Amino acid sequence: MSSHATNKRAIPSIGASILAGDFAHLAEEAKRLADAGADSIHIDVMDGHFVRNLTMGPQIVAAINRSTELFLDVHLMIYDPFDYIERFVEAGADRITIHLEATEEVSETLGYIRRCNIEAGLALCPETSESLLVKYLDQCDLLLLMTVPPGFGGQPFMPEVLEKVQFARSVCDRLSISCQTRGCQPLAAPLESHPMAIQVDGGIDQKTARLCLEAGADHLVSGSYLFGCPSLREGIESLRHPS
Ligand code: DX5
Ligand code: ZN
Repeated sequence: MSSHATNKRAIPSIGASILAGDFAHLAEEAKRLADAGADSIHIDVMDGHFVRNLTMGPQIVAAINRSTELFLDVHLMIYDPFDYIERFVEAGADRITIHLEATEEVSETLGYIRRCNIEAGLALCPETSESLLVKYLDQCDLLLLMTVPPGFGGQPFMPEVLEKVQFARSVCDRLSISCQTRGCQPLAAPLESHPMAIQVDGGIDQKTARLCLEAGADHLVSGSYLFGCPSLREGIESLRHPS
């Protein structure tokens, strides 16, 4: 049932997690990523409560936005994300992803993000049951299945999440859930409907990328691996076509 969709997803969209970049030179990092062929910049926003780390806020997103044309994929690891959507939209986010575990207003928040004319993503921590996603599938443009506990870069990939990716892909295909993601560049015309975008984030390198793609993911986020590659361009290519 899903074979034609799987073929269309042959080339994944690659998001570079700027958390692993040089914070003293964010504009240069954004330029390097654009030159190297990244599809998007993934920006991890952490509040010190939902996760035990503090990172970037809307001002940093705005600064990155001023320095690049790249698609800005903002991953909110904060409680009560509804209260901050407007500020991240004004800062230039192209997609905002919220955590299912971070709010009791999941539908309201996804709906608000979409009404702001940007993409809405829904993220799930590794230990959360994937069955909870199902009722929100037609309310979001991307599912993010965390392949590490959220909060820090450089953690080891959790292979047990692959089953969740397979589950999400098969449910989306079975229910013919589609999305219109602009960040989904490898797919045909930007405004056509595509199979649901399924993103993985955490511990993604060439080896784990291949496992995720085989399980049905089509958006890969990578930080430590990519920024650790001698050549960013080759690192991105190695994720796009993992051997
Ligand atoms: C973890 C973040 C990830 C992280 C990925 O909470 O959401 O985006 O930056 O970094 P690596 O690729 O180093 O696991
Ligand atoms: Zn992230």
